[in-house]
Amino acid sequence: MFALLIGAARLSLVPSTSIAALVAAQAIGASLIGLLLRLRLIWLPVQLLLPLGLVYGSAAPAWIYLLAFAAIALVSWNAPSEQVPLYLTNRKTRDALGRLVTESGARSFIDLGCGTGGVISSLKRRHPQLAVTGVETAPLVFALAWLRLLPLRGKGVATVAYRSLWKEDLSRYDIVYCFLSPAPMGKLYAKAKAEMKPGALLVSNSFKVTDVEPERIIELGDGRQTGLYIYRPGDI
Ligand SMILES: C[S@@+](CC[C@H](N)C(=O)[O-])C[C@H]1O[C@@H](n2cnc3c(N)ncnc32)[C@H](O)[C@@H]1O
Repeated sequence: MFALLIGAARLSLVPSTSIAALVAAQAIGASLIGLLLRLRLIWLPVQLLLPLGLVYGSAAPAWIYLLAFAAIALVSWNAPSEQVPLYLTNRKTRDALGRLVTESGARSFIDLGCGTGGVISSLKRRHPQLAVTGVETAPLVFALAWLRLLPLRGKGVATVAYRSLWKEDLSRYDIVYCFLSPAPMGKLYAKAKAEMKPGALLVSNSFKVTDVEPERIIELGDGRQTGLYIYRPGDI
């Protein structure tokens, strides 16, 4: 459909107002189909802008593409090597993590790959006594997390470090949280088993460790059907 539209535009077979209407219809149609298929909302702007970009993209100045490329590179810097994309823990899951901190009596918490810092900042606000740490290696995402934690700095430990999770010593934490992908889970569990102290919790959002039974699963019943898989690697 896009190819036909572009071809038609180039050959001037269709008046430009009709092309604009067709492109707009395509953008709206694609977005509605996305909503019907219950795609995540992040796809909505993509569905809307892609047809427009394909047809009218050449009208935009070249530096916009350079800027967009730089932004994508700074957000996904580590994605090819780590196989972990950026998506964020939702509010229902943050609430469940807050309850877990209360019931476990945890005093320290780390988010391995903390993204924009949403989990640690919300936990720090609810539990001012909790020492929170985040590590992150995507430059732009790290900068956002660092800024987000800035107002909480004076209130005990609230740290974000530009550091790989593989370099972090996990023995210091009562709860180690991760929301990564299936790819690193086996290696991460081996690291957690070698380093985490007895009783400390490894909490994985959505991704199980193959061949290891979690001690507990918290099902959140949210739109994503999130499950929190809870392990105690230091006990084994
Ligand atoms: C799915 S996001 C989760 C973000 C955040 N934890 C949350 O739940 O909202 C995974 C994050 O891990 C980061 N990441 C991937 N590999 C990493 C590594 N080796 N060290 C630190 N961060 C990493 C990515 O840049 C991404 O921001």
